[in-house]
Amino acid sequence: MTRKLFVTTALPYANANFHIGHIMEYTQADIWVRFQRMRGQQVHFVCADDAHGAPIMIAAEKAGITPQAFVANIAAGRKAYLDGFHIGFDNWHSTDGAENHELSKDVYRALRKSELIEVKTIEQFFDPQKAMFLPDRFIKGECPKCGAKDQYGDSCEVCGAVYTPTELKNPFSVLTGATPVMKSSEHYFFKLSDPRCVAFLEEWTQTPGRLQGEVLNKIKEWFSKDEDGKGGLGDWDISRDAPYFGIEIPDAPGKYFYVWLDAPIGYLASLKNYFGKIGVDYEAFMADPAVEQIHFIGKDITYFHTLFWPAMLHFSGRKTPNHVFVHGFLTVNGGEKMSKSRGTGLDPLKYLQLGMNAEWLRYYLAAKLNSKVEDVDFNPDDFVARVNSDLVGKYINIASRAAGFLAKRFGGQLSADVGVEGQALLDALRGQADAIAELYEEREFGKALREIMLLADKVNEYVDQNKPWELAKKEGADQVLQDVCTTCIEAFRLLTIYLKPVLPALAARVEAFLQVAPMNFADAQTALGAHKIGAYEHLMQRVDPKLLEALFEPPKPAEAPKPVPGGEELAPEIKIDDFTKVDLRIARIVKAEHVEGSDKLLRLTLDVGEGRLRNVFSGIKGSYQPEQLEGKLTVMVANLAPRKMKFGISEGMVLAASHADEKAHPGVFVLEPFPGAQPGMRVR
Ligand code: MSP
Ligand code: ZN
Repeated sequence: MTRKLFVTTALPYANANFHIGHIMEYTQADIWVRFQRMRGQQVHFVCADDAHGAPIMIAAEKAGITPQAFVANIAAGRKAYLDGFHIGFDNWHSTDGAENHELSKDVYRALRKSELIEVKTIEQFFDPQKAMFLPDRFIKGECPKCGAKDQYGDSCEVCGAVYTPTELKNPFSVLTGATPVMKSSEHYFFKLSDPRCVAFLEEWTQTPGRLQGEVLNKIKEWFSKDEDGKGGLGDWDISRDAPYFGIEIPDAPGKYFYVWLDAPIGYLASLKNYFGKIGVDYEAFMADPAVEQIHFIGKDITYFHTLFWPAMLHFSGRKTPNHVFVHGFLTVNGGEKMSKSRGTGLDPLKYLQLGMNAEWLRYYLAAKLNSKVEDVDFNPDDFVARVNSDLVGKYINIASRAAGFLAKRFGGQLSADVGVEGQALLDALRGQADAIAELYEEREFGKALREIMLLADKVNEYVDQNKPWELAKKEGADQVLQDVCTTCIEAFRLLTIYLKPVLPALAARVEAFLQVAPMNFADAQTALGAHKIGAYEHLMQRVDPKLLEALFEPPKPAEAPKPVPGGEELAPEIKIDDFTKVDLRIARIVKAEHVEGSDKLLRLTLDVGEGRLRNVFSGIKGSYQPEQLEGKLTVMVANLAPRKMKFGISEGMVLAASHADEKAHPGVFVLEPFPGAQPGMRVR
């Protein structure tokens, strides 16, 4: 039976570009999805930007643009990362999309119908300086559970506790530093403490095989009450007061869904949006009991995904997730874990811009990932060692050692039969297919790669024993040479199949080299036989450790932005000849008058010492009264071709200064020469 998989990764906040932690999450999920597809499973793999919430609203305000424009800017930057690291989402959507507005309201209405929504008036922190209720993330203080300092108002990054901001000790507003005051307001709550919810979640979370053991332990802590009966599942505040960037709550003017209500619904919205594009019936798909819904997330958002989310889905009459796969955090250089706001020294875009191979990173991350909720550290020396000695040294080398002889000596022709020893080796490799598949299935990528590298070791031993470079020089050993090299190529093909979920771009180049169709897992049980392969081109370079130094080199302190004079860049450089083409002359303004029907122009009568007067229209009406100008000297372009305008012919142009942004810097300033200049004198 073909499995039908609906797979997501967490929806990243649309307030910043991806950091390396995001890339790790996407890589983990992408490897798993590619593996499933190679096994013939049907997978829909989607993600979206998490667009809503106060932080994004405030960031947009700071940038002077609408939150929609702000989020669109961030979205436009996603592709470079996803393509660059071969992350193959089928769809990328936004929680501000129409589907999500609709679905979120549907879910809410259904919860209300189930009598799980309650309105309570609560006291909440209000920033008296900024005159707004403070979102959780804009209040900091000490964790009420473990006492850790400098924690956000919604959850503790040290002990993982989730709480309300009013529980924080010594709170302060991140926006202004002010001590927040309490102010009351009506809020909408999802009654998670309702016995129906508690019973459902106990059953749901404890269903064998659904969640990882460590996750289950954490959940048990969240469920448990202390001796005073405190703790346990609390009701969840799902509304926020305007101003807020989010989805309006039906029948509740001025109230918006808290971003964490509509964010996970964004998984469904992205799928629905995708199905709209490819013409698949969303309702029918989600109603199919065979569909498995799977979310890859990081450990910091477990609470939302294993309690709120399944409860929202269940009590709105929807399918609940089959699995929530939780991973740990990526740290860099053994450093402090990267938080949402702090970032790290490893910029994924810089990695790509340095020309570093994305598949080195995919391989390295895969080698370190397992099915547990363990943190993973990126260590540069370790990175270089794993890529150079394992990936290139053990695997890539097999192809490069055999391909040359096959091309030169046999026109790329493989042997139909490789002989007993070669066959035994290939059988051993083929025999590991199920074990390797099982490891991928279980997200034990590190173990899978170790198994694959053990197989590569075996192949290299075989090469060392059979010494094709010696066979190549030996009389009458052609057949043996061809068989040995064929064995190597066939072994290389099998290893490539096993590595393909991790190295999709490399595998595609191997397929081109081998002249075979895109390979699936089942292809490991077949043989190429008397097949002809193409020309070998080197498939992957070793990492130059210097690249890692460059990667971690701190960015140069940003240069102070160059002042732009008058609001516009200087025009391109010219030669003196270009300048002398313009004949500038001193002119006396004999007469200045309004132009009937024009609110911009003044008509000037100018004396340029020619024995005749010139008529010039000038757009300076906003800045001067005619009588201010009459009798004054100025500078004009005297050799400008006469121009016919609505009000008559203009025979030149008077020089005046203005700022590029006239709205912000109003005023037009006519030039006037120092005393002594006479009409007709050339300006040079
Ligand atoms: N917007 C929410 C998720 C909503 S899902 C309905 C969010 N966004 S996030 O951008 O902060 O994080 C997105 C994902 O990246 C989360 O799964 C988070 O755990 C993960 N990671 C954030 N930092 C990480 C590391 N340092 N390492 C690995 N994953 C990390 O939370
Ligand atoms: Zn804590």
